[in-house]
Amino acid sequence: MIVTIDGPAGSGKSTAARGLSQRLGFEFLDTGAMYRCVAWSVLDQNVDPTDEDAVGAVSQRIKITFADAKVLVDGQNVSQSIRTLKVTDVASLVAQYPAVREELVRLQRQAAEEIDIVSEGRDQGTVVFPEAFCKFFLIADPQERARRRHEELRAQGKEIPVADILQQLDERDQRDEQRTVAPLVPADDALEFNTSTLTIDEVLDQLEQIVRSRMSSNPH
Ligand code: DC
Repeated sequence: MIVTIDGPAGSGKSTAARGLSQRLGFEFLDTGAMYRCVAWSVLDQNVDPTDEDAVGAVSQRIKITFADAKVLVDGQNVSQSIRTLKVTDVASLVAQYPAVREELVRLQRQAAEEIDIVSEGRDQGTVVFPEAFCKFFLIADPQERARRRHEELRAQGKEIPVADILQQLDERDQRDEQRTVAPLVPADDALEFNTSTLTIDEVLDQLEQIVRSRMSSNPH
């Protein structure tokens, strides 16, 4: 059974997807981390991020693994290094390339085969798992998303003005929403939630209740 959670950066989808997977006893797939792994490898291997063919080849060459809440590329723990501002920026660039998307979509479908999973990203309900059992699309007001990101970065010891973060988020949203392949849009049958004024527990309570009520009325 597949549950998808899509939405822009800072909408709370990662925290919600992780928490929901724990509550339901499902696996959890962070597909943004996969795009980040490609970006990290491109930078690590000094590949030109604007060279679409070369970046596509990197995405096919590397081995991405999730183990014990860690993210590994070819066995190397990159959990922290894929969260830098540079990798974040390059990830949204390489995510536009069809060859990269094709490869990662293939891996995402493979990861979800025969298991119960909550998968989060930008295109999980639209492109990767159009037949998902339950689809959510989370949004939040830009100011709130920037505030959350600011707190996250502060926890990593980085002090970046909220106004700068707001501008970066805006640029990234535009790139994610306007790209031709798998743009960030809600699936027609996705349930949309604005998380701006909700606590994580409030979000989780609502999502869990919806999935469980569907499970009891429509057991797979
Ligand atoms: O969710 P995130 O910030 O970790 O995602 C990193 C980048 O990858 C972001 O620019 C959007 C892109 N992405 C995507 O295009 N498709 C996905 N399924 C997940 C992420």
